[in-house]
Formats: sequence, structure tokens, C-alpha cells
Amino acid sequence: MKNNIKLFIIISTIALFSFACTNQEPLKPVSPNAELHYYQSKGVVKKIDLEKGKITIDHEDIPGYMSAMEMTEPFKDKAILENIKVGDKVDFEIERIGANITFTKLTKIGEVAIINGAEIYKTNCSECHGANGEGAKKGIPLISGHALHHSQDEHIKQVTDGEANKMPNFKDKLKAEEIKAVVDYVRNEIQKGAVREDSHQHSH
Ligand code: HEC
Repeated sequence: MKNNIKLFIIISTIALFSFACTNQEPLKPVSPNAELHYYQSKGVVKKIDLEKGKITIDHEDIPGYMSAMEMTEPFKDKAILENIKVGDKVDFEIERIGANITFTKLTKIGEVAIINGAEIYKTNCSECHGANGEGAKKGIPLISGHALHHSQDEHIKQVTDGEANKMPNFKDKLKAEEIKAVVDYVRNEIQKGAVREDSHQHSH
């Protein structure tokens, strides 16, 4: 009987001690055996960088972890990228240990049309304005003269409503966001390097 009591005390002491120890673990901010968490959400694949082993996803809220934003993080295994391309809408899963996030699953659930100003220009504008805005028989150059005197809003209006009789209007052919994309392309790429002048000095 005495022995039983001794044994009981020993066991309770060990139990108490180990309980106290395990209880202390979570107090350390990042311990080597920090817990593994999994989260799921949806987003659009913006970039796939095979060299760095990272993907960029513009995601919705990740319940329990973070609100909607764009994030670039590594993926666990290249296999999860099979059948996935930029512009795909995906269901995804991430694994988190401490502050380290890794994509563990991607499932394509749809596609998002990517509006590409350069493509829109090539298809709709280059015939008259030249592949690089140098001008052609039916259209004026966009890299010199008039075209450098206008604000972005004026350019959007010119493309939306047309100009005089020769510049066609695109309001029925292109969506507002496509017109904005092509005007951005003209202003940021085609007219890059050209000296833009104040639109107030000039009107026509
Ligand atoms: C059929 C030929 C033609 C096509 C196609 C065309 N343009 Fe034009 N564009 C013109 C002509 C001609 C003018 C000059 C109009 C004027 O001064 O009255 C012009 C004027 C402009 C201007 C105004 C420049 C200024 O100095 O006022 C912009 C900006 C422009 N075009 C952009 C575009 C874009 C972007 C596209 C494609 C979405 C496009 N154009 C397609 C013929 C064309």
C-alpha cells in the first residue's frame, strides 16, 4: 500500500512536470516545431516564375489569415502548376509555418480575359498609325506633332468618339477598359521617349 502511494506521487509529479513543459511551448514566438496551418481561397494567377520557383496570385480574402491582396510565394512542387497558366482563376491552398507560406494546391476554376494594350493596338490601330506609331498612309504619327499635346482623358475621348472624319470611333468596337489599355500602351510604350507638351498650349 505504501509503495502504491509512492508510485502515485511519482507518476503525478512526472505528469504535472511534463504538462507544465508542454504548456510553455506556445509562449515562444517561432519555435522550430511551429505549427503547420492550411488555408484555402480563390484568386487569379498573375505570374509564374519557374526560375525562382514562385507564383504571384491576386487573391480574395484568405479566411482566418489575411485579407484580399496580391502575394508572391514559392510553390511546394512543380506538379501543382500542371495545366495552370497566367490568367487562370484558381482555387488554391497554402501551407503556413510561422511566417513562411507555400502554395500546396492549385485547381483551375476559370479564366480571366487579360486585356493586352499591345495586342489591341496591333489589331486595331497599327494599320493607320504604324506598328510603332510612326504613322502610315491612312493615319498620322503618334510619336510626333499633335498626338503629344493631349492628356490621357483627351486620348481616351479621341479613341472612343473618333476625330474629324478620318479617325474612326471605337465605342462600339472596344470596351472602355480596352480603350484605356490601348491608350496606356500608346502613351507609355509608343510615345516613350517622345517629349510630351502641355495640352493647354495647343488645341484643335
Ligand atoms: C482608319 C485609320 C485609323 C485607325 C484604324 C485608327 N486611327 Fe487614330 N487617327 C487616324 C487619323 C487619320 C487621325 C487624325 C484625325 C484628325 O486629326 O482629325 C487619328 C488620330 C488619332 C489620335 C489623336 C492624335 C491627335 O494628335 O489628336 C489618337 C490618340 C489616335 N488616333 C489613336 C488611335 C488608336 C489608339 C487607335 C486604335 C484603337 C486608332 N487611333 C485607330 C486614323 C486611324
